[in-house]
Amino acid sequence: MTVPETARYSAMARALHWLLAVLIIAAIVIGLAHDPLGEIIPGVMGVHKSIGLTVLALSLLRLILRLTNRPPALPATMSALQQRLTHAVHRVFYALMILVPLTGWIMSSAGTRPLNWFGLFDVPKFAVARGDFLADISGEGHEVLGIAFGLLALGHIGAALWHQLVLRDNLMARIR
Ligand code: HEM
Ligand code: HEM
Repeated sequence: MTVPETARYSAMARALHWLLAVLIIAAIVIGLAHDPLGEIIPGVMGVHKSIGLTVLALSLLRLILRLTNRPPALPATMSALQQRLTHAVHRVFYALMILVPLTGWIMSSAGTRPLNWFGLFDVPKFAVARGDFLADISGEGHEVLGIAFGLLALGHIGAALWHQLVLRDNLMARIR
């Protein structure tokens, strides 16, 4: 089934989707496996933080573009319930793409380690200290929301594969 150009996301939205997908999956994997990975790659959390800060910057750009550009309507073959669920998951993704790196940044601001972007330049820290409510809630939030992000991403990828391999409705062409 071919998909008309009007049913596709803009070239910018498509490029940002895939760039962010790679960065977010890398951040989740490093975050969850930072203990064993740290044994093999010293300083791997510095990479996690730098990738995460990149995700935050690109997600803000993506959110602005999304709010100022109407996305293509979902195919009419999807039921109203499926469409509502899809839109809800996409909205939660946008919230997580901002909240997860932001809580990581606030949490790390309370630590003593320097914060930089891939060792190239220093990143300013928020004025928080260990034990502050904001730092503590950010630490808790980063863990819970980070894990939720991973689970939701698995569901999203599963749904994409279901459309591609089982329903064969070529939904993928909209974002490719
Ligand atoms: C964890 C990384 C990912 C995140 C955070 C993510 C997020 C999103 C978001 C927010 C949208 C809606 C686009 C928008 O409204 O701007 C979307 C669409 C889509 N994503 Fe992902 N995505 C990820 C990874 C993937 C992967 C790995 C696949 C494929 C296996 C995929 C397949 C799709 C497809 C097919 C659509 C189009 C759905 C539609 O027609 O509206 N995504 N994704
Ligand atoms: C999209 C961006 C990000 C994602 C998806 C993400 C995800 C995660 C996940 C899943 C964990 C493991 C949670 C746990 O089991 O404790 C984690 C840990 C961590 N993240 Fe992130 N993160 C992101 C961005 C950031 C940023 C921007 C920073 C700091 C600038 C950061 C700092 C940390 C730190 C310090 C830990 C370790 C916490 C501990 O000691 O347990 N993260 N992250």
